[in-house]
Amino acid sequence: MSLDDDLKALLSDTQRFLRQQAELYGDSLLVSRAAVETPKEEQIIEKEKPISTDKNLTMLREPEIDMFGDTKKVNKNKFNLDYPAESWTSAASIPLLNQAINTCTKCGLSGTRTNFVFGAGNPKAEVVVVGEAPGAEEDAQGEPFVGRGGQLLTKILESIHFKREEVFICNILKCRPPNNRDPQPEEVELCEPYLWKQLELINPKIILCVGRIAGQSLLKINASLAVMRTKVHDYRGIPLMVTFHPAALLRNPNWKRPCWEDVQKFRKLYEEIKGKNLNPNYKSQY
Ligand code: URA
Repeated sequence: MSLDDDLKALLSDTQRFLRQQAELYGDSLLVSRAAVETPKEEQIIEKEKPISTDKNLTMLREPEIDMFGDTKKVNKNKFNLDYPAESWTSAASIPLLNQAINTCTKCGLSGTRTNFVFGAGNPKAEVVVVGEAPGAEEDAQGEPFVGRGGQLLTKILESIHFKREEVFICNILKCRPPNNRDPQPEEVELCEPYLWKQLELINPKIILCVGRIAGQSLLKINASLAVMRTKVHDYRGIPLMVTFHPAALLRNPNWKRPCWEDVQKFRKLYEEIKGKNLNPNYKSQY
C-alpha cells in the first residue's frame, strides 16, 4: 500500500466518522477522547461471579427459584431485611418516599449536588428503567435522563412503544458524582436501598437496566455488559434485562443496532408477561 492509499483510507475513515457525528449531533461537531477510546463497556469478563460473599449481598443475588410471571411473589420480608433501620423504609407511596429521602446527606455527594434526583414517571409503572447516576443536566434540573443521553433514551423507549411518562425512570445513585466519575462502592451501598424501596413500591412487571453499572449494582454480579445482555435476569421475582447506556451509544453509534435488538426482545418479553403467556425457559431464551 502506498502512502497515497494510506491517506485515502484515513480520509475515508474520517469521513465516515464525521458522518456518524453529524447524524448524532447535527451541525455542531463534538470530538471527545471518549468518542475515540475503547469504552469500558467493551471489556469482557469471562464469567459472571458474585461480587462478594458478604451475607447481605449474597441475599441479594438472583434467586435460584424462578418466580417469573407472578410479580406478587416478591417477598416483602426479604426486601425489609435488606433495609437500614431508618424511618423512610416505611414510606407508603412514591411521593412520600421522595419527601422522606430527598434531603439525604448520607454520603459526600450531598455536598456537591445541586438537586437530589429521585426519579420521574408513573408511580404505578409496569416498566422501570434504571440508569447509573445523574449527570450535569440532571443535577441542574432534578430530573433523570434529561440531557442528550436522556433524549436518546426517550427515543429508544418510543421505538418500542413506551411513552416516557408511562414508565418510571431512575438511577442507582440519586446525586451526581463530580465530573461524572463512576459511582464508588460506598455510595452505591448507601444509596441503593432507596432504589430497592422504589422498586418495591412500584412493583413493576419488568425492569430495564441501562449500562453495566446499573446491571451489576442491581444484580450484584460482576459481569460485563456483553455477558449481562445475553439473558433475562431475575430481580426478586421481577424479570430484568440489561442493555447499553444511551451515553455509550452516543459515543459509539455502532452499538445502536445491538441495543435496538435488545429492546425488541424487552418489548416481546413485556408482551408475554402481559399475556401471561410465559415460556418457563425464559432465562435461556434470549
Ligand atoms: N446517565 C444516567 O445514568 N442517568 C441519568 O439520569 C443521566 C445520565
